[in-house]
Amino acid sequence: MTQYKLLTPGPLTVTDRVRQAMNFDYCTWDEDYKAVTQEIRQKLLQIAQVDPDRYTSVLLQGSGSYAVEACLSTFSRPDTKFLILSNGKYGERILQMADYQKLDYEAYKVAYDEVHDPQVVACLLDKNPDISHVMMVHSETTSGILNPIADIAQVAKDHNCLFFVDAMSSFGGVPIDMGPIDALITSANKCIQGVPGFAIVLVRKDLIESSKGNSSTLSLDLFDQYQEMARDGKWRYTSPTHVVMAFHEALKEFEERGGVAAQHARYQKNQELLQEGMEDLGFKAYVPREHQGPIITTFLYPEGQAWDFQDMYHYIKERGYVIYPGKLTDVDTFRIGNIGEIYPEDITRVLDIFKAYMEEKDNDRH
Ligand SMILES: Cc1ncc(COP(=O)(O)O)c(C=O)c1O
Repeated sequence: MTQYKLLTPGPLTVTDRVRQAMNFDYCTWDEDYKAVTQEIRQKLLQIAQVDPDRYTSVLLQGSGSYAVEACLSTFSRPDTKFLILSNGKYGERILQMADYQKLDYEAYKVAYDEVHDPQVVACLLDKNPDISHVMMVHSETTSGILNPIADIAQVAKDHNCLFFVDAMSSFGGVPIDMGPIDALITSANKCIQGVPGFAIVLVRKDLIESSKGNSSTLSLDLFDQYQEMARDGKWRYTSPTHVVMAFHEALKEFEERGGVAAQHARYQKNQELLQEGMEDLGFKAYVPREHQGPIITTFLYPEGQAWDFQDMYHYIKERGYVIYPGKLTDVDTFRIGNIGEIYPEDITRVLDIFKAYMEEKDNDRH
């Protein structure tokens, strides 16, 4: 099989060190293993810069979506009404989950290349005083847009609402002020650079501790998971042992490299280099510059040219990288992520591959 690096936003390319941490079969009952879980939970709170007396972290088996759904269920009661903001597929997934769970909500949707207006949020909350929870996505990985969560969170707080954020693809890679955030969701295989297998919820302790009996599903009951895990680090049900050890190693590396600030600086540099280089080659980014985040960039297909994503994908893959198809329904796009073990040298190499591909296509046409 062709070997390649992932220019996709998780799973992502990890270090050999992280991969090697999986090279042993750990016992879920063993005290060393349980201590690893506790260390991970504590380190996540340090990264978030929150007071461990006020916040806790809960790990949940499964991909990120499992934790989003678990939050909706565990932190809502029959009289809860949500305001759900959406400008991409992941916001839409929250809405879909709310429908599945038959939750009461208002939706505020804007186009995928636009951000939400805090004044509109304020109006919606004024008009619907029964709304108690506001939820949105931070880095909308559908497009790469970075939503201004601080502005919206402020409005939510001014209206005495809880504020939940899906920070799946941003936590650890973009600085986040946890001050107004009641619950944040992320996963093992994003900016901390672990492998897929569990999701993470950082939540106010008093909120989770008062959530007993809310969840409509047993395996997604975060309260129950928290109760068990907080005791001694033992996971409820089968623990993804290899993934946990990989994440533990990824956290050590993350700290050694300089934490969120260093991760953010590198991703930002990758993104800027990529966008500039692609624009030089004639590609246009989909998201306006002022809202573009450092995680992933969506590019439009070049205008007036026959363009075959599969052909380009295979050309790039054979040369050592894989990219992502677009996720927009109205325009043809593709996406390039720059998180994981990806450095400016990789971006330069990918740009060279794109350039060679464009030249070959140009020669074919003439
Ligand atoms: C912002 C965001 N939310 C939710 C998800 C869903 O996570 P998963 O695919 O791990 O279930 C993703 C996945 O990339 C994401 O980027």
